[in-house]
Amino acid sequence: MEHALRQCVLALRIGERLGLSDDDRAVLYYVSLIVWVGCHIDAYEQAKWFGDDLALKAGFRLVDPVGVRSAGQMVRQIGAGRHGLDRAGVAVRFLAGGMRVVGVMMHNHSYASSQLTRDLGLSPHVRDAVLQTFERWDGKGAPDGAKGEEITVTARVVNFADVLEVFHRAGGVEAAVDVARQRSGTQFDPMLVELAASQAPPLFADLDQAATWEAVISAEPAPGPPLTGAQLDASLQAVGDFTDLKSPYTLGHTRAVADLATTAAATSLAGPAGEVTHVRRAALLHDLGRLGVSNAIWDKPGPLSAAEIERVRLHPYLTERMLASAPALAGLGATAALHHERVDGSGYPRGLRADAARYLREEVRAARQDPESAEAVLEAAGHPVWRRRAWPAGLTTREVEVLRLLARGWPNRQIAERLVIARKTVDNHVEHIYTKIGVSNRARASLFAVRHGLMSPAEDGEFTSRPGSAPGRSSWHAPHRFPWPGQRQHRRGPSRGVHHDHRHRSPARVERAHRRRNANARHAAGRRRRVDGRDACPAGDMAEPIPRPHLRSRAPALRAHLAERRR
Ligand SMILES: [Fe+2]
Ligand SMILES: [Fe+2]
Repeated sequence: MEHALRQCVLALRIGERLGLSDDDRAVLYYVSLIVWVGCHIDAYEQAKWFGDDLALKAGFRLVDPVGVRSAGQMVRQIGAGRHGLDRAGVAVRFLAGGMRVVGVMMHNHSYASSQLTRDLGLSPHVRDAVLQTFERWDGKGAPDGAKGEEITVTARVVNFADVLEVFHRAGGVEAAVDVARQRSGTQFDPMLVELAASQAPPLFADLDQAATWEAVISAEPAPGPPLTGAQLDASLQAVGDFTDLKSPYTLGHTRAVADLATTAAATSLAGPAGEVTHVRRAALLHDLGRLGVSNAIWDKPGPLSAAEIERVRLHPYLTERMLASAPALAGLGATAALHHERVDGSGYPRGLRADAARYLREEVRAARQDPESAEAVLEAAGHPVWRRRAWPAGLTTREVEVLRLLARGWPNRQIAERLVIARKTVDNHVEHIYTKIGVSNRARASLFAVRHGLMSPAEDGEFTSRPGSAPGRSSWHAPHRFPWPGQRQHRRGPSRGVHHDHRHRSPARVERAHRRRNANARHAAGRRRRVDGRDACPAGDMAEPIPRPHLRSRAPALRAHLAERRR
């Protein structure tokens, strides 16, 4: 990325000195930033012939691409990373047909980048310039062998700035001017070489400071309007598809992951549509970091070495770092970086244990993540999620629990048993409730509860739609654990098997399950009556027996109930 930023600034400076219009400099700007992103399209072939594709690219600009030295460098790299007969076999196959492949690679590179410019909705002038990435002033380039001024001025400037930046970074202004002169009239336009030689000091001045992310973003010559949500989605999908080109084995992977994640999020998240959008966008970017790992590793036919595994484990981290520079994408990067983490801590790159949750929540506390999105992601990953809501009149959650039972006519003694708290505590709660809501009896308290939506059919274990879920998507709330939706609901993802999802069951089957459950509950309540000699609870239609202390000992029921609540 550093190279692209510095090259972009250099190309814009050359464009200014050539007197190019804003539109032409806008083309320079986008071509500079996008022209090399296509270099991974043939990474599979590069790794196949030359070993590490990233190392091959690093040395690509150091020699004139046409000439004996370039051919010599290529021959030296054939079969790199292989040994003995294996390497000799690769060399023979390369000489038999591989040279042709190199030409095709260069064409593919510019073709892939030009397709991306189209998918991103960039100007056709950008696409035309990108297609001439490998053309040369002397006509010995690819794909069309265009010569001299047949090559657009923007393509000539970008090609020139591309090589000069590499030499300037390695050897300073002198090295950059030297290489320009050496390749004048062959790879480079002599007019550009003359300009660079005569104005070298201002051209290269403070290149590092001028090539920060923020500086380059603000240097756009003719900024367009911000992307709409739909345009951003389309752009991220184009980037995701483009990422998959890294290896033949991942074609279509990103889009499939995004579709799967979107479906899962829409099914399991109870929040606003923005959360689902966040998940889809993060999924479209999740493997961006794969571009930073060589195909010699991704496509290796045998087992990976320890060092290679370490490189693989870096790719989610690279995704995060790539996106961290852009404030609008940093949140997506943070989510995407977790895509190989596992709840048991065996994932990577950070090996977060359950405490992926803690990490995400720390991000929320630091205002780097959206709280609801973070909770939604954690819930989808099977983490317990507490949902709190602000209760009316400043009631606490416990007071709402008490109010609800009070409104149903439960005496304080039974409320105490039901909630496994002391009778005196219930008395205090009732007093506080009356004071807070400004009433003095149960009837008015029940009216308050109804008017504020505190009474919910979910307490009876009905099948109810989850708040925010689509019609027809129902779920079962265990009544003794979640007396009403919106209370401190300790919900779990489907993988733990606690949150029963009946979407794929027929209504008759669901009804049968419900009846069976009620019958079991009545049976259990009857058994308890034999033990403690009292009715289990006044709500005889409850789907589950109410946990309450029996006469022999309070401890087992209390422990079970507390354990239940903790889960
Ligand atoms: Fe992936
Ligand atoms: Fe991945």
